[in-house]
Amino acid sequence: PIPIIVDCDPGIDDTIALLTAFVSPELDILGITPVCGNQPLERTVRNALQICELGRRTDIPVYAGCFRPMLREPIYGQFHGKTGLGNTVLPEPVKTVEPKSAVDFLIDTLTAAALEKKRTTVCCLGPMTNLAVALRMNPQVAEGIERIVMMGGAYREPGNRTMTAEFNVLADPHAAHVVFSSGIPIVALALDATHQVMLKPEHVAEFSNVSGRISQTLAELMAFWDRNDVRRYGSRGGPLHDPLVIAYLLAPHLFTTERARVFVEHESELCMGQTIADWYGKSGLEPNADIVTKVDAEGIIALFLDRLSRYAEK
Ligand code: BDR
Ligand code: CA
Repeated sequence: PIPIIVDCDPGIDDTIALLTAFVSPELDILGITPVCGNQPLERTVRNALQICELGRRTDIPVYAGCFRPMLREPIYGQFHGKTGLGNTVLPEPVKTVEPKSAVDFLIDTLTAAALEKKRTTVCCLGPMTNLAVALRMNPQVAEGIERIVMMGGAYREPGNRTMTAEFNVLADPHAAHVVFSSGIPIVALALDATHQVMLKPEHVAEFSNVSGRISQTLAELMAFWDRNDVRRYGSRGGPLHDPLVIAYLLAPHLFTTERARVFVEHESELCMGQTIADWYGKSGLEPNADIVTKVDAEGIIALFLDRLSRYAEK
């Protein structure tokens, strides 16, 4: 299995991503590192613990990450309800957060991975503060990373939080800048990709037929995720942002990428958090990311519904 660390800010779509990863034997989840993002840190940590409890994966350690972005004031998510998990109430967590911080966990795990030459994949599903701090703390960290697969940014597509910026990058543009400047191989799943994969009411209706408590909870979260905004998305439903990171690891053949140099605007207030791809080599700099431009949406939706059906009867 591919060793991965899931850096996240749950979040409804983070939850769907985690629950998909939990039932995918191709992935070995070394740890979950919630960060301040969709919700304040205290809540993303609690949500992560509850998701492990729900998915019966209390064996996976959860490490609390940074409590605020590097320089900017925190901003929180808009479409995830008051607790970050819609109207769904998950079981009280019995499991507790690890005493080690997420940044220390990243440093220890990734420097060990560098030494043992067993590189780890880092999945970024939220603002990238934890990874940026770890990269700044120890230069060996980068060497322990096989690649970063991130949900974040918006290239040809407009932003979802401001006219030009996507939430995860806007929430900590300085961290995103550090990550994109790190030289580590990056696969970027931006809004250009995620807006192509809409989880529609008919998918949710189909999935609602899967029995069992976990599946029913998932169906409830999926129903809450419907943006009901045809003008913006071209259809009903909710974009499967974070789950695409997991789908990419499981089935890369469903994704088409283009290499480009990416820049993150972190100075201008008007365009703060904008991600800019140098598609035509204007900067003279080498590409630093594989940006997903096309996806097989039907194939990806089928993959999710199939994986998540593994919770039937559980
Ligand atoms: C990203 O923002 C968050 O609200 C979602 O969880 C996702 O990671 C999409 O822009
Ligand atoms: Ca997220």
